Amino acid sequence: MTGQFYVIGVGPGDPELMTLKAARLLEKCPVWFVPKAHRNGESTALSILAGSVATDGKEIMELHFPMKKIRMGETPDPEVEAAWKAAATAIQAKLEAGIDVAFPTLGDPAIYSTGFYVCDTLLQNAPQLPIIIVPGVSSIGASAAAVGQPLCLGDDRMVVVPATFENGRLRETLASFDTVVLMKVHRVMDKVVGLLTDLDLLDKAVLVERSSQSDQRVRRDLVAAAKEEPHYFSTIIVRK
Ligand SMILES: C[S@@+](CC[C@H](N)C(=O)[O-])C[C@H]1O[C@@H](n2cnc3c(N)ncnc32)[C@H](O)[C@@H]1O
Repeated sequence: MTGQFYVIGVGPGDPELMTLKAARLLEKCPVWFVPKAHRNGESTALSILAGSVATDGKEIMELHFPMKKIRMGETPDPEVEAAWKAAATAIQAKLEAGIDVAFPTLGDPAIYSTGFYVCDTLLQNAPQLPIIIVPGVSSIGASAAAVGQPLCLGDDRMVVVPATFENGRLRETLASFDTVVLMKVHRVMDKVVGLLTDLDLLDKAVLVERSSQSDQRVRRDLVAAAKEEPHYFSTIIVRK
């Protein structure tokens, strides 16, 4: 019998925001494949979950996924595609040996997570493999909680976008929706602040850096935040 593959959301950073189900399944799986963005860096998902789940006795395999832009409908960067294939091959070998495998991922797996690219690649090789997705608390909810404001109420319309969008598309999005959640903002702060200023939305925007983590920061002065280049774990909420 093949093993079971679990893609598990471990939440935005505070280990207490991991679900009971995430913790139980991580405890159950003898093998964890943990993603990391930098070859010599550590896995954020692993450091989050290690706050709640014992790592002793686990076979922990680190997988490096280079951070490159992915555009849906276009051929992915060869280095990124190679990383997905390598991950899928290694995971498949464990599953076919009958071993249950966990793939923990930051926040919720359904939101800009490598987990789903790995699942797709895995299913291309072996469509019969069983996959279970375990939702997690997203950094979007955690960021709103840090600010103490809702994301949307009543008939508000909310959109979530990567801020690395082209200027024109981002401007149109900011102008059209009641709430705009901008992710992946850290390298494009000047562009975002410029657009928010043009659209007279600067006072409606708040940046949350490392939401739910011990060094969480809520920043309303985005001009100042842009000068310092915030951490990669930063999200801007614009609520009109
Ligand atoms: C690849 S996406 C992963 C999103 C994740 N799957 C989720 O559900 O939150 C990475 C982006 O998520 C946001 N992010 C992740 N963790 C965060 C945190 N603790 N606080 C604020 N933003 C965070 C940032 O915008 C970051 O650039």
